[in-house]
Amino acid sequence: MGVFYAVIVYLHVLSAVVSVGPLFVLFPIIRRMRSAAGTEDALLISLFKWTIRFVMHSGHVLVVTGILLLLIGPWPWYTSWVIVTVGVMMLSIVFLASGFSKVLKRFPDEPENREALIATLSKTSWRYILLLLVMLYLMVAKPAFW
Ligand code: HEM
Repeated sequence: MGVFYAVIVYLHVLSAVVSVGPLFVLFPIIRRMRSAAGTEDALLISLFKWTIRFVMHSGHVLVVTGILLLLIGPWPWYTSWVIVTVGVMMLSIVFLASGFSKVLKRFPDEPENREALIATLSKTSWRYILLLLVMLYLMVAKPAFW
């Protein structure tokens, strides 16, 4: 393995760690949101948004380094585990974009739906973590689907 390839694999794995790790912070935030009000509530929501933004940026690094690995490495783009990962990735983008941003925007306007919105955030967080763990498995095990 060339040094450049090794560096990109390292950055790719590092960005995978940083993409998954912060998501576990969402659960204590969600728990506090159930009883929070006023400035504490605003703080929790901005912390939640910050975490999502952070995960989104590291996700971008993950995709860019992944594409670089395909360009310079031994795996062609049509390898089955690569295609399945990209498919799962598209699903997670849909989840992150609609599942989190839309719901977070509704908080100030819909105090009456607060409980339901918090439940949605929790469900979306779990789904997103699950999708990332599936992609992690595909990357590490590299199963041949066809
Ligand atoms: C556009 C999406 C992605 C592409 C094109 C891509 C591409 C690749 C390629 C080509 C390798 C092989 C490196 C090698 O072993 O020589 C790799 C390794 C790896 N990828 Fe990705 N990747 C993507 C997304 C992800 C995601 C979402 C995760 C984690 C959640 C991830 C985690 C890993 C890990 C941990 C390895 C190291 C596995 C190993 O060396 O056995 N990748 N990736």
